[in-house]
Amino acid sequence: MSVIELFEVTDKVDQTDLQLDTNGRLRHLLTMHGLDRQRITALLDEAETYLSNIGKPVVRSSALRGKTVANLFFEPSTRTRASFDLAATRLGADVLNLDVNTSSRKKGESILDTIYTLQAMQVDVIVVRDAQSGVPAYIARHVNDFVSILNAGESDVAHPTQALLDLLTIRLHKGEFQNLTVAIVGDIAHSRVARSASEALVTMGVKELRLISPESLAPAAGSVPPQAKILHNLDEGVRGADVVMALRIQRERIGNIDGIPGIDEYFANFGVSHERMNLAAPDAIVMHPGPMNRGIEIESSLAESPNSVICEQVRNGVAVRMAVLATVVKTLDSQ
Ligand code: CP
Repeated sequence: MSVIELFEVTDKVDQTDLQLDTNGRLRHLLTMHGLDRQRITALLDEAETYLSNIGKPVVRSSALRGKTVANLFFEPSTRTRASFDLAATRLGADVLNLDVNTSSRKKGESILDTIYTLQAMQVDVIVVRDAQSGVPAYIARHVNDFVSILNAGESDVAHPTQALLDLLTIRLHKGEFQNLTVAIVGDIAHSRVARSASEALVTMGVKELRLISPESLAPAAGSVPPQAKILHNLDEGVRGADVVMALRIQRERIGNIDGIPGIDEYFANFGVSHERMNLAAPDAIVMHPGPMNRGIEIESSLAESPNSVICEQVRNGVAVRMAVLATVVKTLDSQ
């Protein structure tokens, strides 16, 4: 990557303004920050129309017929990439999964030249995951009026479609958010899932949001909403909670592992287990965005227990991504 590109990528812009068009319609999805309750509710309502149950035919529509969606994943992914692919296909789009490991990025082509190349091929929506913060907004600033950018995971900063599928999963089980206590447990410091989920849950008005981690993995000051309660004791964190979400330790984002507990110590103090869940509300649900490290942040059999909604989160991810794709394409078509 050139020095100029690096400078521009890290040159932060207000993503909130960037993701809405001049009429206030969702043009790109870059962050949960700035999306209000009404807009989030509309996305969740639309996602519900795309839900189907295992063993039944999937819901299809022609909302994206004639459109092309490109997946650009510069970091590994199973769920997000597969679900964007399925979501776009089920809406009738052509889908391009660019293999970045064999792309001309490996020959030194800049990310912007890669985007301009896809734009010239009349790609309408570009789904991007990148390890560097600022990349989705940087691309969104440079594409033409006929292209939409969707953030599929940005460094430790944002993962907005994950937050939406988490909200949908919670809403399907618990109804409204106002009476809920939600506990998010694990590597909060390096988690884009925790950041986007926290912003979204506070916007939706949860009664209490608890972020529980070892002190060495606590969120940096100002990186999560001020309403969140920061805790370092899991028993206190899960007591009475309606929703308990376990997070993976993001080893790929941790430079210096000094101070990070070893596996056994971590599970003993911060692993979400059957025993821990006895402290939560009796009908509490267990969530995990995946991929899971069983036996580290979650007891393996808990992931398959009746209270686990982890596979439902995956199913709901396809429906949420269908809703987001349909929404931004409607905006593009109305320009
Ligand atoms: N939750 C999530 O982003 O999973 P993947 O990394 O498999 O896409």
